[in-house]
Amino acid sequence: MNLSITIAGVRFPSCFMNAAGARCVTREELEALGRSQSGAIVTKSMTLEPRQGNPEPRYYGFPSGSINSMGLPNLGYRAYAQIIPDLKRFQKPVIASVAGFGEEDFVTIAATINECRPDLIEVNLSCPNIPGEPQIGYDAEASERLLKRVRKVVSVPMGVKLPPYFDPAHQEAMARVLERVGVDFLSLINSVGNGLVVDPEREAVVIKPKGGFGGLGGTLIKPVALANVRAFWKLFAGRLPIIGTGGVISGVDAFEHLLCGASAVQVGTVLVEEDLGVFERLERELASVLARKGYDSPAACRGKLKEL
Ligand SMILES: Cc1cc2nc3c(=O)[nH]c(=O)nc-3n(C[C@H](O)[C@H](O)[C@H](O)COP(=O)(O)O)c2cc1C
Repeated sequence: MNLSITIAGVRFPSCFMNAAGARCVTREELEALGRSQSGAIVTKSMTLEPRQGNPEPRYYGFPSGSINSMGLPNLGYRAYAQIIPDLKRFQKPVIASVAGFGEEDFVTIAATINECRPDLIEVNLSCPNIPGEPQIGYDAEASERLLKRVRKVVSVPMGVKLPPYFDPAHQEAMARVLERVGVDFLSLINSVGNGLVVDPEREAVVIKPKGGFGGLGGTLIKPVALANVRAFWKLFAGRLPIIGTGGVISGVDAFEHLLCGASAVQVGTVLVEEDLGVFERLERELASVLARKGYDSPAACRGKLKEL
């Protein structure tokens, strides 16, 4: 079955791709994604300066998911500006994930990266704001100020990667911001922040940074991801393409995201755990679910979730 999809006028050969941060930091990793069955190459979220990230262990996988506090290890935007044009040869979309430690960083990075013509830019709002304040995505005013400035310097399709919201009022406030800014797609959701995983044998936390607190991914966050995809699909009445992220480890998980309104799906934890062969498996599994259900493409079931 043909699993290709289109987002903001850009054609993706498959609806599956890596999530920002999963096996996409170095040139080697990005090229390996290019050679894989991934439907796109999504870069690690890039910052102004190169970063080593937090001390290890900083990622821990367990049966129902993962916890991480990576600390944005990345090569710095200048390096990605060199690499992105070389990724064109793989003939699949390149999505540049832009981060920062303040409004100015985002604008500088987005302006330079836009010049390299990635196919799309994903602005990662799960970034620290002023110390003591919540991450940018949890501050509607800060998000609006930042996105309005970034929008001015970006001419390729621009999307926003949002943190999970747990209250419809927060989703509605962010939807109004996005309406005013004018974005081309959404990536939902980033890690569920500030979880804590305990190893009872060692009587200890499992990652070193921040006393063990970290972002959660994998199966355990799927209902939160589906809820955010569904909520934003409804808020925009299906007009804004959504890339669903969170808890996809099988073709059925991807099907659930599509039913909720996603056009495509990103995979983080399962890609870290299983490596690049995961794309072939997920494509085979989704194709089989779609065929069994009588759908001839991912788009055919998009948003078709029934309510009781
Ligand atoms: C090791 C690791 C690094 C991540 N780095 C980033 C990042 O740089 N930018 C970003 O937007 N999300 C990052 N994420 C979040 C993922 O992109 C994704 O939103 C989250 O893990 C949920 O998807 P999953 O359930 O498939 O893991 C990272 C996740 C993991 C596990």
